[in-house]
Amino acid sequence: MRTHYNTCLNLDNVGEEVSLCGWVNSYRDHGGVIFIDLRDRSGLIQLVCDPKDSKEAHEIASLVRNEFVLIAKGKVRKRGENLTNSKLKTGEIEVLVTKLLIENESETVPFDAEDETVNEELRLKYRFLELRNPKLYNNFALRSKACIAARTSLANMGFLEVETPILTRATPEGARDYLVPSRIHQGQFYALPQSPQLFKQLLMCSGFDKYFQIAKCFRDEDLRADRQPEFTQIDVEMSFCTQEDVIKSAEIFLKDIFKACDKEIQIPFRRMPYDEAMEKYGSDKPDLRFNLEFIDVADIFSRSNNQIFSDIAKDTKQNRVKALKVPKGDTIFSKRQMQKFEEYVRKFGAKGLAFIQVKEDGLKGPLCKFFDEKDLDELVKICALEVGDVVFFGAGAKKTVLDYMGRFRVFLAKELNIINEDELNFVWIVDFPMFEKNDDGTYSAMHHPFTMPKNIDEKDLENIKSIAYDIVLNGVELGGGSVRIHKNEIQQKVFKLLNIEKEEQEEKFGFLLDALKFGAPPHAGIAIGLDRLIMLVSKASSIREVIAFPKTQRAQCLMTNAPSEVPTLSLKELGIKIRENLK
Ligand code: AMO
Repeated sequence: MRTHYNTCLNLDNVGEEVSLCGWVNSYRDHGGVIFIDLRDRSGLIQLVCDPKDSKEAHEIASLVRNEFVLIAKGKVRKRGENLTNSKLKTGEIEVLVTKLLIENESETVPFDAEDETVNEELRLKYRFLELRNPKLYNNFALRSKACIAARTSLANMGFLEVETPILTRATPEGARDYLVPSRIHQGQFYALPQSPQLFKQLLMCSGFDKYFQIAKCFRDEDLRADRQPEFTQIDVEMSFCTQEDVIKSAEIFLKDIFKACDKEIQIPFRRMPYDEAMEKYGSDKPDLRFNLEFIDVADIFSRSNNQIFSDIAKDTKQNRVKALKVPKGDTIFSKRQMQKFEEYVRKFGAKGLAFIQVKEDGLKGPLCKFFDEKDLDELVKICALEVGDVVFFGAGAKKTVLDYMGRFRVFLAKELNIINEDELNFVWIVDFPMFEKNDDGTYSAMHHPFTMPKNIDEKDLENIKSIAYDIVLNGVELGGGSVRIHKNEIQQKVFKLLNIEKEEQEEKFGFLLDALKFGAPPHAGIAIGLDRLIMLVSKASSIREVIAFPKTQRAQCLMTNAPSEVPTLSLKELGIKIRENLK
């Protein structure tokens, strides 16, 4: 039907007969000549329907309305001197139409695809119309390029693409599963995979050596701007390799992906141990596009004459006292603003947010009275305070302080407008703890229970590190992986520490444990969140903008109305009855 996409045409095509297909973006009648901006996925071009050239085409043009589907044949011509449109890629030319066909009409659309002020519910209900917005289309063009680059890059490195099942058993990523009832085995359920984790490990046991998959994953968890219930991973696993090999391969395919998206990135990426990330930035996904680092001031606070502070500061295992200096902050923020910041950190468990201002005549703030002169001098020294600075303090339980000060750090950077939105700042976070303590005192695996520990015989569980790594880009966790346990005796030690009894082991991961008995090679892998990656490359504010048909914050698809009730007969076939009070 078409000879060209609209924006493939330029001055070189002047005089050519062309056939173009697309939608009416807009139309105008100028004294008998009708101008139509025709839109296809490449962009816009101006059609001119002049009755002098084709009476018939002009008559048809008088019937068109926005979003009608047209096929137009005609000749490319140069626009007149003052009639060019620099905003359009095809602004120097137009097509004089000789034949026009309305292939389909359109009802009045509920909103203009490019109008971003329309409420999200309506946009998601008519997602196919919203996707007519070229900005969104470009995200998908980028996503497609990224997937092709990932495949090519991984294939060049010898990785084999293998699909793993969607109807499966629970996987160990720690979120809630989506369950699918079985008709044949009534009362039994498949789980949709939270990731292909166990299958890719099995493929290593089968000797496939290097696997990858652009894999759909499903997790029933609370949704946020960077979380969807179904999302995609670039999932990778390799055998006879170390952490270094995985990191190197990931850097290569990430570089290739970014190149395909027109972004040059430098590899290798910087690395940072987990403990350093937490202590300096209060996050295992620190945004390093700006400095703002915490300074540990527990030592000074332990000498404070305020007993609450000194008690907190003395227990350096359980607690933290952190200072966060904002250079010249006292000249940027009003005292009132600084007092208001407390409201922000309180939301995350802070009991307060003290601050000290550095004035010409010394340190000012209610906190100062709790320290003697020597300690205040020490504070000035270790925080390298200068006149005009302000320094905020967080004190309390380690986990809480690091969390709210970490969030506050990012909040401040936004307030200060010091984030370079064009920068792509990668960092590997390494040496994760193997276990994390739950609120009830028990321990869970921080990544998953198949992660290889570094020092399994260490007495204090909290000091056991794992060979696990995360890749962070601009403060977003882009991906993560680990070296896996391939020896049964180490796996058993880990299960023991996690209190996972034999029965539960068998029930949940029996097939993997079996595979470990039959010659499992050393292996390791990683998974990169594709949606997050495209969100960051395209500077989208949510991963919904890079997923063609996303779910809402409440995990619904407003277009198809999923999830939905099903006929009673279908439930009967599955052996399922809905509780009366849920109907
Ligand atoms: P993990 O659980 O860290 O690791 O997931 C890897 C990456 O997947 C992305 N991701 C998500 N993206 C969108 N919505 C979600 N709900 C969501 N959850 C996770 C993130 C994350 O970094 N099997 C292991 C990997 C391995 O060890 O090889 C795994 O799935 O970008």
